[in-house]
Amino acid sequence: MPKSADSVLSFLDGNGNPVPEEALRSTYAKLLRTNGYVHLVDVPDTFDHVGFLRGFGDFLPSPTGTLVGDMVPEPGMDGIYHSGNQQALVPHTEGYDLDELPARYLALWCVVPPSGEGGETTLFDGFKLVNSLGEDERKHLETQTYTWSLAAGLQSQGMMYQAEHPVLETVDDELLLRFSYNNLRRPDGDETVADFLERGKERFDAEHTAVRYRPGDLLHWDNWRMLHARNAFEDPHRHLKRVMIRHRAPQTA
Ligand SMILES: [Fe+2]
Repeated sequence: MPKSADSVLSFLDGNGNPVPEEALRSTYAKLLRTNGYVHLVDVPDTFDHVGFLRGFGDFLPSPTGTLVGDMVPEPGMDGIYHSGNQQALVPHTEGYDLDELPARYLALWCVVPPSGEGGETTLFDGFKLVNSLGEDERKHLETQTYTWSLAAGLQSQGMMYQAEHPVLETVDDELLLRFSYNNLRRPDGDETVADFLERGKERFDAEHTAVRYRPGDLLHWDNWRMLHARNAFEDPHRHLKRVMIRHRAPQTA
C-alpha cells in the first residue's frame, strides 16, 4: 500500500528546533496547493490546531452541528455505513449531500492514534481522474445533475436530506469535484458516471496515499480536489478531531 511521503512537513528542522513560523506557513501553503494535501508531523503539545486552521477560513458545521468534531467510534453503528464506526469507508469527497458548497478544506488531527493495524486516512488526487476524462465525458459530468444522498449512518440518526448537483462545477474560476462511490444515485443507462465512479474507486484503491497518525499530527486537504476514505481499524480508542473549512471567495476590490 502506498505511504504518505510527498507532502509530509515536519514542525522541526534537522537539529530538532522548530522551523521558523513564517517558513513553516509558507511551505505548508505551497504543499497544500501543489499536492492537494499536507501532513504536518512532529507537532508540539502546545500547538493550537484550531487557531492555526482558522487562518484558512470559517468553519462549516457538521451534520450534527459541531464546528470542531470528535471522530471516535460511536456505539451501535457497526454494520451501518458511517464515519462513526471502525469499518472501512469508500472514496468520497465531503459534503456532496449539502445544498450549499461543500467544505473547501478538511482537516483532521490526532488525539489518540489507533494501536494495531488500520485506521489510516487514505487520499487520492481526484484531479488525476478528471484529467483523464475525454471532452464528451467531462461535458457530461459538468451538465448532468445527480441526486446525492446522505450516508446511511446519518440517516439512521434521523437526518434525511439529499442534494442535486453535477459531478463537476466551476466556482470562482476553480474546479469543484464531488465524488461518492456509494451515495451518488446512478441513473439507469448513464454509463459515463458509472464508469467515472468505478474508475475512481479502482485508481483510489491502487494509488492512494495512506496516512498513519502519531499524536498531534495534522492532516489537511483540499476537499474540492482530493478523494478520501479510511481503512478499518480494531482499536476503539482511536480519536481524531475534525474541522471543515468553508470556501473563501476571492476578495473583490
Ligand atoms: Fe469523509
